[in-house]
Formats: sequence, C-alpha cells, structure tokens
Amino acid sequence: MKDIRVSLGERSYAITVADSYARLPERLRHLGLGRHGWVVSHRSVLARSGRDLLGPLRRAGWTVETLVVPESETSKSFAHAQRLITQLSRRAAMRIPVLFAFGGGVVGDLAGFVAAVYRRGVPYVQLPTTLLAQVDSAIGGKVGVDLPHAKNLVGSFHQPRLVWNNLSLLRTLPLRQRRSGLAEVIKYGAIADPTLFRFLETHLRECLRLELRAVRVMVERSCAIKAAVVSRDERETRGLRAQLNFGHTLGHALEAAGGYRRWTHGEAIAIGMCAAARLSAALGKLAERDCERVVRLIRAAGLPTESRGVSRNAVRAALRYDKKFIHGRARWVLLARLGQVTVTEAVPPSAAERVISDIVR
Ligand SMILES: NC(=O)c1ccc[n+]([C@@H]2O[C@H](COP(=O)([O-])OP(=O)(O)OC[C@H]3O[C@@H](n4cnc5c(N)ncnc54)[C@H](O)[C@@H]3O)[C@@H](O)[C@H]2O)c1
Repeated sequence: MKDIRVSLGERSYAITVADSYARLPERLRHLGLGRHGWVVSHRSVLARSGRDLLGPLRRAGWTVETLVVPESETSKSFAHAQRLITQLSRRAAMRIPVLFAFGGGVVGDLAGFVAAVYRRGVPYVQLPTTLLAQVDSAIGGKVGVDLPHAKNLVGSFHQPRLVWNNLSLLRTLPLRQRRSGLAEVIKYGAIADPTLFRFLETHLRECLRLELRAVRVMVERSCAIKAAVVSRDERETRGLRAQLNFGHTLGHALEAAGGYRRWTHGEAIAIGMCAAARLSAALGKLAERDCERVVRLIRAAGLPTESRGVSRNAVRAALRYDKKFIHGRARWVLLARLGQVTVTEAVPPSAAERVISDIVR
C-alpha cells in the first residue's frame, strides 16, 4: 500500500494505492466518517465488484446502501443529480451521509457534485474503478455535470476525504477503456514527466495489458503529478492546474459536438493532444520531432489522432461554449518541449483553424 498526499491544509487527503479494500474501513475510522454510507455506482460495476467493497465495509459495522446510475456520459446531468439528491433526501433525511463514488469518472464527477450541493456539502470518498479515474478524475475535487451543448459547465470544487485506488479492479477493464485511461497518462508524460513519457514508449504493451508493474508506474506517477499540481493550485487560479488541460480545449469540444457518444473522454483528449502538439509545432514553439513523438505514441496506443464523424461546425460552436473560451478566444495549452507547457489565449485564430480543419475531418 502506498499513500500520496494532496496537501490543502485542513482539506488535505490521501490517495491510497492498494490491491484491495481490506484496509479501507480502518482508514475511514481514522477519518471519523461515521458508519453510514451511500454507494453511487453502475449496476455492472456493483455486479462485478460490489462484494469486494461492501464485504469489508459491512464486516466493519457499516450500513451501506446503493444508488444506481445508468452507464453513459449522459448520466452526468442535472436530471441525474436531482434524482440522486431526491433519493438521498427521502431515504437519509435524518443523517449526514458519506457518499462513496464507486465507478469511473462519470460516477465520480456526478457523485462528487451531489456531495458538493446536497445539504451545502457532505463528505465523499472516491473509489475509482477505471484507469482514467484512478490517474486523474478522482483526484482534485473538480466535480460537476455536463450541459447538452457544453462539457462540465456546471460544477464546483469539493475535495474528497480520501481517494482509494484498488488496482485489482482494473483487470476487467475492456481495451477501449484501458486506452482511454492511457490517454491521460500520456498527457502527464507530455506536460510534466519525460521519463514517464519514455516509459510509455518503451513499455506500451505492458501498459495496455495492465501488467502490475506497468500499472503501478502509471497510477503512482500520474497521481503524484496531479497531487502536486492540485496542492499548489487547487482552484486553477495560478496558471498551474490549467496545464492539466493539455488536449482538453479541442477534446471537450469534440465530446460535446459528438453528443457525448462518438468519443470517450480519453479518445477525445487524445485527438485534442495531437491538435495541441501540431499547433505548438506550427507556431514554432515545439520541435517537429517532439510533436511526432506525441502523435506516434497516441497512435501506437490505439487511440485516434484525428476525428471523423463529428461536424466541424458543431466543434467550432462547442469551442465557444467551453469554460476555456475567454475574452473571445480559446485558451490553449501548448507544448514547449516534452515535459514543459505554456497556457495561452494568444493563438492566432487562423493557426487554430488550420489545425482544426486538418484534424476534424
Ligand atoms: N473531475 C476531473 O478532474 C476529471 C478529469 C478527467 C476526466 N473527468 C471525467 O471523467 C469521465 C470519464 O471517465 P471514465 O473514462 O472513467 O468513463 P466512465 O465513468 O464512463 O467509465 C467507462 C466505462 O467503464 C465501466 N467500468 C468502470 N469500472 C470498470 C471496471 N473495473 N471493469 C470494467 N468496466 C468498468 C463503466 O461502467 C463505464 O461503462 C468524463 O466525464 C470526464 O469528463 C473528470
């Protein structure tokens, strides 16, 4: 077991990397979180792994009830948040519940959002079950829901009390979801850690197979990078956390323009990273060979490097609705070299348009 710390004063918490939930109840007891919890999850995740979680909790004296949300990005909506809040208010009226977000990033963002607004904030614990959620979405307290035309536009910062990464659950992830999670790991390598980037280039097969050593490297390194960034810039006010949005300017627009069905989050940001790398090279900020390394690794991971089947006009419209569209311009995260990024709104619209035309076909 290994702990990585997110340091935020009294809101600090641990990201625990473990291979089971056996010691989770003990940790919850130290946090003084009571013994009554609500597990927000998908039916399939509960069927597959519910016993691994509920067994240890119940044996430690917890009463736990489950709240099921449908599987799909479209569950990250006001309608589903309201449904969960109504269920909580009817069934947990007299107690302050602890929410457990048990699933991928969709469950984590939605349950976290409910935890942020129900009774003006209740405690929650992230129990991520996808690679993407373990390396990224469960950490940092960004919670929220989508609007039909814009991703993550409604939300809050609400830090979890604990993130518990049980690596053994990742074994059942389908290849598409492994690749999707890998996209975020590639992102960390590209923006902050050339050694991690090189590891992915040289151990890609082990990473995609989720072999234990490779998973440990990916999860522990990514969590350490995200924890460090969030600890220094929790609310994205110091220009550091924005760096984590590498690939997300176009990525979020592709997700929204594709009705949240065409691309998974990881696939969309993979295309977005190719666009951002190409834009960085076109503006003379990034060496062509480093740009090619980014695109090559994404392609080798089986991720898309360009978008088909989503209208370019819909992408342009979605770009304007994004949170990163400021003072009439999109904010881009560009690469200066592998491991170093700059965040800028000063990209000539014609250069951005050229890259979008090349990549969104
Ligand atoms: N809050 C943040 O900081 C942040 C950061 C990155 C991404 N996100 C969000 O995360 C979401 C994407 O998360 P995701 O990629 O985890 O998608 P997801 O939550 O939709 O999960 C993908 C699929 O994997 C299934 N699944 C979950 N665990 C499994 C397991 N152990 N074995 C087999 N199948 C399993 C789920 O049921 C689902 O069908 C997006 O909404 C994105 O915006 C948030």
